[in-house]
Amino acid sequence: METIGRNDACWCGSGKKYKKCHCQFDEKLKELQQEGHIIPSHDMIKTPEQIEKIKESGKINIAVLDYVAEHIKAGVTTQQIDDWVYEQTTSRGAIPAPLNYEGFPKSVCTSVNDQVCHGIPSEDVVLQEGDIINVDVSTIYHGYFSDSSRMFCIGEVSKEKKKLVDVTKECVEIGISQVKPWTPIGNMGSAVHKHAVENGYSVVREIGGHGVGVEFHEDPWVSFVSEENTGVLMVPGMMFTIEPMVNMGSDEIYTDEIDEWTVRTEDGLPSAQWEVTVLVTETGCEVICW
Ligand code: MF3
Ligand code: CO
Repeated sequence: METIGRNDACWCGSGKKYKKCHCQFDEKLKELQQEGHIIPSHDMIKTPEQIEKIKESGKINIAVLDYVAEHIKAGVTTQQIDDWVYEQTTSRGAIPAPLNYEGFPKSVCTSVNDQVCHGIPSEDVVLQEGDIINVDVSTIYHGYFSDSSRMFCIGEVSKEKKKLVDVTKECVEIGISQVKPWTPIGNMGSAVHKHAVENGYSVVREIGGHGVGVEFHEDPWVSFVSEENTGVLMVPGMMFTIEPMVNMGSDEIYTDEIDEWTVRTEDGLPSAQWEVTVLVTETGCEVICW
């Protein structure tokens, strides 16, 4: 941690003196570190001003997903979903974060059935009755990022697929309930994992959640197969995503060699994912978008 005088301006950019701002907070962190905990760096802590702006971004993310929820049905192509997301985002003065992100060619990720994540919208993918699809929306508004995704069942789906979708949503709800300040993030991930395993499912290991807000992907990286009492402490002002990818079969996955984005299950069985962005608060957590 950098040395900073008590009368210097706080590192958080609030303009307040350090002693009146994050001084006590840093002392508490230092104590916890001495007790052997992993503590977050300052760049993982959002200021109240940043939080307000990220919340505005989150509201747009929610509105875009609400639009998708109202219009998605059998016969729609994933390219149409991409068009909706582009239109609904830009008409609110925002930018779809995936567009051109590390070369991603579209505005949203659409992952159908055995696709785990990062599916690329296409004219060729026509949603069929019985499909399950994850629509993963991320927004940049006035430079601030938000990220969330939902599953949609197209028409009647098998009861096996419906259960996978429902249990994965429960996993996220359980994760949210385990976001408690000053506790290790591994507790949250292990609770998510436990619920999936109890239902006979597996959770993807290689891809997880992430800090978000000032950038698209920030520290910490968030595992949903973690052990209790591991990982960085969750502290007020941290923001990250809870986004487990839950597989009906094994946790093995691979990335499409041709498009270099689409991730699928190795065994071809379905996978589901829901994603929320959360803010750690003094008392628990606040869901910024879903
Ligand atoms: N929204 C995804 C996430 O949860 C990121 C997708 S990156 C993209 O992190 F480029 F594929 F869109
Ligand atoms: Co994410």
